[in-house]
Amino acid sequence: MEIKVIAGDVIHVETGAVVIGCFKEEKRLGGESAAIDEALDGAISRLISQGEVKGKPGEVTIIHSLGRIPAARVVVVGLGKKDELKLDGVRSAVAEACRHLQRKDVTDVAVDAIGKDVPGITAEVYAQAVAEGALLGVYTFRRHITGENNKGELKKLTIISKSKEEITSLEKGVEKGRIIAEAANMARDMVNEPSNYMTPTDMTGVAKKVAEDYNIDLTILEKNEMQKLGMGALLGVAQGSCQPPKFIVLNYKGGGSDGIDLALVGKGVTFDSGGISIKPSAKMDEMKDDMSGGAAVIAAISAIAQLKPKINVISIVPAVENLPSGTAIKPGDILTAITGKTIEIISTDAEGRLILADALGYVNKMKPKAIVDVATLTGACIVALGNICTGAFSNNQRLVDGVIAAGAEAGELIWQMPMYDEYKEQNKSNVADIKNVGDKGAGSITAAQFLAEFVDDTPWVHLDIAGTSFVDKERKYTVKGATGVPVRTLVNLAVALAEK
Ligand code: BES
Ligand code: MN
Ligand code: ZN
Repeated sequence: MEIKVIAGDVIHVETGAVVIGCFKEEKRLGGESAAIDEALDGAISRLISQGEVKGKPGEVTIIHSLGRIPAARVVVVGLGKKDELKLDGVRSAVAEACRHLQRKDVTDVAVDAIGKDVPGITAEVYAQAVAEGALLGVYTFRRHITGENNKGELKKLTIISKSKEEITSLEKGVEKGRIIAEAANMARDMVNEPSNYMTPTDMTGVAKKVAEDYNIDLTILEKNEMQKLGMGALLGVAQGSCQPPKFIVLNYKGGGSDGIDLALVGKGVTFDSGGISIKPSAKMDEMKDDMSGGAAVIAAISAIAQLKPKINVISIVPAVENLPSGTAIKPGDILTAITGKTIEIISTDAEGRLILADALGYVNKMKPKAIVDVATLTGACIVALGNICTGAFSNNQRLVDGVIAAGAEAGELIWQMPMYDEYKEQNKSNVADIKNVGDKGAGSITAAQFLAEFVDDTPWVHLDIAGTSFVDKERKYTVKGATGVPVRTLVNLAVALAEK
């Protein structure tokens, strides 16, 4: 999608549709919208007084202009109450409008200042939100549907501004929004790909492309190197599949020093059948999304390398397939992780924490200032928080506060869960140092407590995205399938840490 910023009046723009905003309980339209209303013989104000246009968030009304203005259609999007509008409301409104229009095969839209004069929303962040809303909102995954590749695609978006002075700020915002939204869409693509198109080896292919395109250092550890390093937990999970495991390390050096400021670790299980502790077959197809964390950290570092914050960031993905076979690990087996800790396998379906144990242990040896891991780790987290919030678990309040704030800025909701020592007891094993499933209850917390064993005192946050990485309903700027969560949070976090 081409996104342009121009100075001028919306009423004179030739386009498939102009998008204007309408607040709830707004009696009279202001500025440009009033001029459009007048040109349409008061059609919009009539729809408002008749109650058809209410200004509710998510509401989209299409009015054909029938030649009265150069734009073929006027789209009125609801913005909710004026004093409640936040940046996320702008992002959502633009997404809903663009998605609606794309479905009607409209290819070219212009956006008027939607909620731009709201306090706290500057020209730059406004333009970023518009770009993100449009790019995220019209995302589709059609590459395996033959003959449909060119169906309905919004190709051009123009942001109209009344003031010439603003253009530079608006363009800056568009550029940032484009980089971040395209990264989120890249993660969505990876996650939406079925497991036969997104194997651990395919993930290395994506990492190679990112490394080349944005000049990031890449190291891929093969099985024999993992063996030398003693990654027995990761290798244990991998041994049930014919797909070779891969350990992906992307290193962005934007800071002056040698040390790692931020380590991102993402679970990369390209398919989770459960292994010998096999899952029920209903919805097992969705377990292609079990590499969402890995996709997120690869996508995030690609955006970070383009935005160039002054910070060193490393992204790590342990990538494996979890399958049952004659060579698979079995309940009762004991594995030894990179740190030397022994792990009793209670369920081969609790495989995420096993591969993360080695990845966290590996990166922790590099003494990073902070670690954030991202994983579709537990069904229990979905029970607790649904698909609205990502669960956050941490040993460091400052860092987790920063992660939650970065998420809020992105419109990606995060809720912190407790990490009391009492929960740790549940992971005690009779035959090894630790077991991979807790006794009962609090499944997302005991999983986090398991991970905590492999980071020592390094400030660390674990994000459980089991509920938020993949959804079955479209909402705001997310569509059915992969959401790209929490790519934008991670990018915001890196930028914020660099500015500190
Ligand atoms: N990948 C799953 C978690 C998951 C479940 C993600 C549903 C998305 C949707 C994870 O590997 C898993 O199977 N966890 C088990 C752990 C249990 C065996 C302790 C779970 O949550 O049931
Ligand atoms: Mn599992
Ligand atoms: Zn899993």
